[in-house]
Amino acid sequence: MAETTESGQAPSRLVSHFLNRDRNDQSSGWAELWDTDQSDFWDRGKPSPALIDWIESQPEVLRSTPNRRLKALIPGCGKGYDVAMLALHGFDVYGLDVSQKGIETARAYATAELEEPSPYNFASEDTCDLAKNSIGIVKFIQSDFFQRDWEKEVAGGDFEGFDLIYDYTFLCALPPAMRKDWARRMSELLAPSGILICLEFPLYKDLGAPGPPWGLKGVHWNILAKGGDGIMDENSASETRSLHGLFNRVVYFQPPRSYENGKGTDMLSCWKLKK
Ligand SMILES: C[S@@+](CC[C@H](N)C(=O)[O-])C[C@H]1O[C@@H](n2cnc3c(N)ncnc32)[C@H](O)[C@@H]1O
Repeated sequence: MAETTESGQAPSRLVSHFLNRDRNDQSSGWAELWDTDQSDFWDRGKPSPALIDWIESQPEVLRSTPNRRLKALIPGCGKGYDVAMLALHGFDVYGLDVSQKGIETARAYATAELEEPSPYNFASEDTCDLAKNSIGIVKFIQSDFFQRDWEKEVAGGDFEGFDLIYDYTFLCALPPAMRKDWARRMSELLAPSGILICLEFPLYKDLGAPGPPWGLKGVHWNILAKGGDGIMDENSASETRSLHGLFNRVVYFQPPRSYENGKGTDMLSCWKLKK
């Protein structure tokens, strides 16, 4: 995603586009950007290297069986890079986006990619060969993450939660006032044994600077572990007491590979629902 200038004086075009839009106007704001071919603001051109590396390092944890494939969700899926990549790793994947044009773009991308996968979907040629035997299904849904009506389109109406949800540049696309609802929706959408994976970005940006992208340093911990509202400033303590959130953080590390836009600060965090 593009961002404010280094001086912080002149807002970028993306920030300007969302200035003075209240939370009810956010979805139309994203749809307008898609409809006017401005997805280059955030499009990285390939799936998340950090997610690929992690998925491929966890074959025991993330194994589909012949009887049951693991179901994954990418909310705010954009062009669908991570949707296609996870399907190529054997997941049945649902890509959700509020923009109809975004969904059509993603559908076309995934169709081509599943037919002839690019090497960038895999960490190595070995995993590329393995994956060819077990490609999952891909389904794109045009809807609002914060509504529940689209859940009936998952798994033939037999929806029992996702085994994996991946967030990259979705939380940071939302104004701070929506963060608490983002966490609640994640808790509703995740299966009891499922895993929420977040590539935390941007962590180098001031929490007070306008977005999108909105700076997220400490925000995941605040909303998922502590049960806070995620509306924080640079002085908000990140102490570990009072963990009233719905999630436990089970994995947290700096991924060896990530996008350049993260400026070397991206972190990968994995979360499970408290029992
Ligand atoms: C910054 S883009 C990131 C796209 C994608 N994750 C990527 O990395 O390319 C945010 C995406 O979220 C979508 N979006 C915004 N609000 C949404 C909502 N409430 N429900 C579903 N999708 C939403 C936008 O249309 C846009 O495609």
